[in-house]
Amino acid sequence: MNRILAINGSYRDDGITDQTVAAFAQALKAAGAEVEIILLRDYPIDFCLNCRACTQLPGVAPAECVHHDGMKELIEKIERADCYILATPTNMGSVTAIFKRFMERLVVYAYWSWDMNGPQFRKAQATKKKALLVSSSAAPGIMGRWLFGTNKQLKMTAKTIGAEVVGTLFTGMIAKEQHPMLPDRVKAKIKTLAGRLV
Ligand SMILES: Cc1cc2nc3c(=O)[nH]c(=O)nc-3n(C[C@H](O)[C@H](O)[C@H](O)COP(=O)(O)O)c2cc1C
Repeated sequence: MNRILAINGSYRDDGITDQTVAAFAQALKAAGAEVEIILLRDYPIDFCLNCRACTQLPGVAPAECVHHDGMKELIEKIERADCYILATPTNMGSVTAIFKRFMERLVVYAYWSWDMNGPQFRKAQATKKKALLVSSSAAPGIMGRWLFGTNKQLKMTAKTIGAEVVGTLFTGMIAKEQHPMLPDRVKAKIKTLAGRLV
């Protein structure tokens, strides 16, 4: 069974990110995959303390964090999953603050003892896991994709958890009404992209 974990950093119900993730889930379930959606807005995740207690010892498994919050369960889900959908709106040129807070807590996937200049990714050896990256912006998609930091940050998230990026969906020109609906052209792209995970 292909287990897919979708991690959604949007702030609001039924916005473009929620609709996009739901459309992916529908397509993936129809193809026989098991899909779980994590709404980061509902998840109790504290800020990283930069204490680096979790980075001191080598090893490929994510280390223990000093916080005891929802991130522990989320890391277990990340480890169990075969593939990921990493999704966030673009806010102020980057992933949302709740997505960034989640990303920083992924430091448990780094080995970085006090005598090292920089971190080593625990999952640097390619795993068989795959990731699709999803974002949206008021700006046209092509601009959003290349000008904003969002894609870079989503790529870094995939790399940190040991997943290879197999596709990106960046929906632009999506912020001209209060409750935008996912355009048909995007729904068609979702069906094609979903095929890269299953
Ligand atoms: C606080 C805030 C900041 C935003 N910053 C940007 C931005 O820098 N560039 C951009 O093109 N769109 C920006 N947008 C538009 C969002 O990216 C767009 O509305 C997105 O589709 C929202 O996703 P959602 O429907 O899942 O909430 C911003 C929206 C908000 C509310």
